[in-house]
Amino acid sequence: MTNLKNFIREIPDFPKKGISYKDITPLLQDPKAMDFAVDLFIQKLNNQPIDIVVGIESRGFFFAALLAQKLNAGFVPVRKKGKLPAETLSEKYDLEYGIDVLEIHKDAISKGENVLVHDDVLATGGTARAACSLVERLGGNVVQCNFLVELSFLNGRQQLSRFPVASLVEY
Ligand code: PRP
Ligand code: MG
Repeated sequence: MTNLKNFIREIPDFPKKGISYKDITPLLQDPKAMDFAVDLFIQKLNNQPIDIVVGIESRGFFFAALLAQKLNAGFVPVRKKGKLPAETLSEKYDLEYGIDVLEIHKDAISKGENVLVHDDVLATGGTARAACSLVERLGGNVVQCNFLVELSFLNGRQQLSRFPVASLVEY
């Protein structure tokens, strides 16, 4: 059995002192471990139908596109402010210092579509919550939020209490 933690490298004091960065690049480099992770994500959906997989820029893109392909669903990027070219909806979210903005194309999701929201890491939950809010503002139904890594000591699930949450590796 593959232990995904073995493919996540902890970098102390990055990007600043006191933070232990969870580097998923060793996992991305290993096709067998990637397959294993994708299969686990699929299992955790319990055969619930998914129309759209939303991936959150930038590190959420890696797995979201793979999951969309596997689920025969569309892939939709949620991007940081100013990156998407067509008409967008915006949602603010809190950073440690200040705020940032996520955007989605207005025509990316139709009313009633079943949506999986994916990101690499669940930390405080602000990013994923903003993405879920964009999905709901377009009339989408958030079926699950899933993450490769959950930093459970930051209680991100509290921000996502209205949604089912799944993660593959916890710290
Ligand atoms: C990181 C990570 C998640 C988010 C989690 O992204 O990839 O998207 O932070 O934090 P939160 O749960 O506290 O909101 P970051 O904004 O650093 O950008 P990146 O993915 O482009 O590297
Ligand atoms: Mg990110």
